[in-house]
Amino acid sequence: VSTASRAGLDTRRLALDVLLEVETHGAFADAALGRGLSERASWPAKDRAFATRLVYGSIAWQRRLDWIADHWARPRSERLDPEVRLCLRLGLFQLFFSDRIPSFAAVDTSVELAKSRRPAAARLVNAVLRRAIRERPPSPPEGRTAEELGIRWSHPDWIVRRWIAERGVEDTARLLAANNEAAPLALRMPGDGVERERAKDRLAARGIVGRPGRFSPSAWIVDGGGFPEPDDGVVAQGEASQLVVHLLADHARAGQVLDACAAPGGKSSALAEIADRDGVVTAIDLHRPGLLRARELCEQAGIRSPLLARADARRPPFRGAVFDAALVDAPCSGVGTLRSHPEIRWRLRPGDLEDLTARQRAILDAVEPLVRPGGALVYATCSLFRAENEDVVAAFLSSHSEWRAVDSAPHLPEPARDLARDGALRTWPHEHGLDGFFAVRLERAIG
Ligand SMILES: C[S@@+](CC[C@H](N)C(=O)[O-])C[C@H]1O[C@@H](n2cnc3c(N)ncnc32)[C@H](O)[C@@H]1O
Repeated sequence: VSTASRAGLDTRRLALDVLLEVETHGAFADAALGRGLSERASWPAKDRAFATRLVYGSIAWQRRLDWIADHWARPRSERLDPEVRLCLRLGLFQLFFSDRIPSFAAVDTSVELAKSRRPAAARLVNAVLRRAIRERPPSPPEGRTAEELGIRWSHPDWIVRRWIAERGVEDTARLLAANNEAAPLALRMPGDGVERERAKDRLAARGIVGRPGRFSPSAWIVDGGGFPEPDDGVVAQGEASQLVVHLLADHARAGQVLDACAAPGGKSSALAEIADRDGVVTAIDLHRPGLLRARELCEQAGIRSPLLARADARRPPFRGAVFDAALVDAPCSGVGTLRSHPEIRWRLRPGDLEDLTARQRAILDAVEPLVRPGGALVYATCSLFRAENEDVVAAFLSSHSEWRAVDSAPHLPEPARDLARDGALRTWPHEHGLDGFFAVRLERAIG
């Protein structure tokens, strides 16, 4: 076996192992892949990028790939052993959703993997993939129903149905397509110009090049791969996520700010950077390891860490209106981040939304009394469902008469002001190339 083909099999084997962890153990793709890649530090960047593409693409396109396989495979893919189903997905993804991979490499490696894991099914994998090349896959449905769009763009019907009801068919189709694209790696650079230039130089010295973000002045978008090291002094954080903290930056600069759902610290560390020496950030979360990550991020970026406490934001350990502002970056479905968490769409159940919105409302209800009169409360999610966004805010406002929603636009950096719709910050994968975020600033009456 030549070195090249061994590398080819190794990358696909890693992809298969990660896919299996995601499919059968409920792992998150990014975490499982991160673990796998960190054990293979000697792999060249192109192999790491290829394994990453195989994992994310096979998960994003899963429904469509199974639909193609079912054209030929008996039993149908849902009844196949998971490893066999995953070998088929990997093969079909390479054949039809990935440029520049020779057909024979896609087929041979999938059959090899099947042989090593489920020898009895290797013939099935071989037969399906060869027929797929010979006969070409069926064209996806062209129609406008949730099921047709769901097969074509590989999302579950219930999510598509919700978006069609909220946004119409055309816009939903564009959103679904964008959710299957790879999200670029965005970094948050230090705010100060000199520091920023130094950080860019450090990255460039390791071959990581990029360009400024379109909307967030602190964003740097990496072109062509590479990942920062802890001592680069930058934080990997999506551009939309970077924008959220601007909605409470005025208070963070010199006041007391609470981050009520802080792990893993992306926004806490950004708030701490704004607070610098004059403001005080307190970060709480249920998840202790994630909370400690907030401190690590600050240490790496040379920022004073927030005060940290493991706590339930529905029963926060504070008495009285002690904060000038609070951020509730609420636990949510995460459907705004399908580009980088493609598995969420297959895991989420319609009933989960009820639990999530109940929790979102309970956190807001418990955090609100901690903000002083005249202070601000920012509610944010990375959801694109009205139920978790506008509806939660409307329910809150209807039961809390001293609070009102204000326009986000004046609080956002100039290039991002057009992202405010009906007062809230709204970002969309298909419109802006950003993760889907919702954030609104509420203000408490003075007295
Ligand atoms: C969207 S994430 C926060 C992301 C974080 N703000 C950042 O920018 O890195 C939501 C967080 O809410 C936390 N969470 C869920 N329920 C909570 C509760 N009742 N109290 C506090 N934190 C909670 C989860 O552990 C999770 O870390």
